[in-house]
Amino acid sequence: MSLIGQLPKSEITTRFADHVSSGKAEFFHQAGIDFVIGKREGIYIWDLDGKQLINCHSNGGVFNLGHRNPRIIAALQRALKELDIGNHHLVSEARARLGERLAAICPGDVNHVVFGVSGGEAVDMAIKIARGHTGRPNIISAKGGYHGHTGFALAAGDPSFSKPFGPLMPGFQQVPFGDLDALATVIGEETAAVIFETIPATYGISIPPENYFAGVRKLCDQTGAVMIMDEVQTGLGRCGAMWCIDTYDVIPDIIVTGKGLSGGIYPVTATLYREHLNPFLHENPFIHVSTFGGAEVGCFVSLEVLDILEEPGFLQHVRDMADIFESGFSELQEKHPGVLKGSRQRGLMMGLKLADPNFGPLMTRIGFEAGILAIYANNDPSVVQILPPLIIQEGEVNQVIAILDGMLGKLEEIIQNIQSS
Ligand SMILES: Cc1ncc(COP(=O)(O)O)c(C=O)c1O
Repeated sequence: MSLIGQLPKSEITTRFADHVSSGKAEFFHQAGIDFVIGKREGIYIWDLDGKQLINCHSNGGVFNLGHRNPRIIAALQRALKELDIGNHHLVSEARARLGERLAAICPGDVNHVVFGVSGGEAVDMAIKIARGHTGRPNIISAKGGYHGHTGFALAAGDPSFSKPFGPLMPGFQQVPFGDLDALATVIGEETAAVIFETIPATYGISIPPENYFAGVRKLCDQTGAVMIMDEVQTGLGRCGAMWCIDTYDVIPDIIVTGKGLSGGIYPVTATLYREHLNPFLHENPFIHVSTFGGAEVGCFVSLEVLDILEEPGFLQHVRDMADIFESGFSELQEKHPGVLKGSRQRGLMMGLKLADPNFGPLMTRIGFEAGILAIYANNDPSVVQILPPLIIQEGEVNQVIAILDGMLGKLEEIIQNIQSS
């Protein structure tokens, strides 16, 4: 018997509200979104009632390889025949093999790894390494940025998520993203690290000036600060290169990855760091522990993810699909200039910039009707994120563009109705 749909939809919603999140249940009810995820496969998810959506959210990259990718499932099944989580204190073949493979795809001498379970945990670890290595207190991050909901990560992110939880960790400063002068005025001898998402997703797929990261690198080198790139969403092929920071030709000191490393099946995250940062953890090997970090069965899932990403033509496919989106977006902009102000894109890290912050949530709701899961950016709701699985094919890209065309038309209609009433 299928695990899906054993309860009627209304009963699931009631039990979810009673025992999981009453607030979320109320939010979706008020937004007119009546969706309970059921079957999922490839680029699609289905409601329990059978309604199909193209997943243009991909949980920020978790579903880079689509839902229930057969190769990933097979890798987990193979691993389950012999392994389990393993013991995080002991030397492990699975962790060693994944660590080596991750080092091989990282730029420069980013060749060490600490495994985790969540992106927030991996960001916390990056900040621990930076403070531990430098002995300095200050961490600089971007206004409107997002790094997760754990301790250091929360303090580095936008206050909208951290306000009720103060006092936060001291020593955190924020600067406008993309502004080198602003960074230059605050970075200094007390700065342990600068942490940025390479392209801040939650801040609306904001694309920095081309020379920005080279400038950040220079300022970090001049002051001895550690340069941390949060590639939880942008990494693992999303931007048409293994890491988005590769497209800027810059080698950071630490790369944080997560989401896509799971293959959508088993959570694994990683804090990857350069050789010169290793002495701190070498001296203190038990100063950070994550019981489930780098679980052995998960390592084999992640190794399969890397096998797929490294196949010849995979990253080229991402770039090819990105090109089709790019020309589709410019046609959409010509057609809907009143509501669509532009597009933001690096590879398949994409967003549509709308004319009003109220339009993002509206587009998300219209998408549920029209057949696309596309979520607005929380810290800039005038942007709808478009993050399809990287395995999307040409015909499907054209289908997404056609649906977006219809959604923008519907948005125009709603605005006109509001204006004329
Ligand atoms: C850029 C970025 N960093 C960190 C995180 C935190 O990851 P997690 O939710 O796995 O803790 C996220 C999650 O959306 C993210 O988008």
